[in-house]
Amino acid sequence: METLLTTEQIQTRIVEMAASIEQDYPPEEGIHLVGVLKGGFMFMADLVRAMSPRVTMDFIAVSSYGKRTKSTGEVRMVKDVDASLEGRHVIIVEDIVDTGLTLTYLQDILRARGPKSIKTACLLSKPSRRVVNVTVDYVGFTIEDRFVVGYGLDYAEKYRNLSHIAVLDEE
Ligand code: IMP
Repeated sequence: METLLTTEQIQTRIVEMAASIEQDYPPEEGIHLVGVLKGGFMFMADLVRAMSPRVTMDFIAVSSYGKRTKSTGEVRMVKDVDASLEGRHVIIVEDIVDTGLTLTYLQDILRARGPKSIKTACLLSKPSRRVVNVTVDYVGFTIEDRFVVGYGLDYAEKYRNLSHIAVLDEE
């Protein structure tokens, strides 16, 4: 498999992202990250380790594509957050924005929970695939329309454990 982003490139960018997130919030206020499982777990783990102790976290799980590599547009919540989001600065932490349907769904349901603010951080974005106009406040890397795996991202549940991001050869 061809490497698209090395471990070093990813780590360097995450430190930059953490710094710009920290700058955007008043220092005395908490930041509550909501990681989207399963794909976002590795990004979340590295992002929070680059942030200050004021960060708290929770997780949400949505249905994946299964064994296919194309979006069906169907989104289903499998696991909700544990703690209330009311009055908190919330950041959704996602692995990749592709069509934007998953993120639009998540932003809508989480915004309805009364957070003080809501933003989104995505490691990867494929803007050419977008079918809905969705706001992503922090983007790690903008990539072309290629199916990628590794660093949390899977194909049929495999390759999530890679510490870099690779392009999956055409199925
Ligand atoms: P969207 O709803 O089309 O934006 O899809 C977002 C979700 O699709 C992500 O959270 C991933 O789980 C999955 N996805 C989209 N593109 C890729 C890819 O290139 N590799 C692996 N998973 C992907």
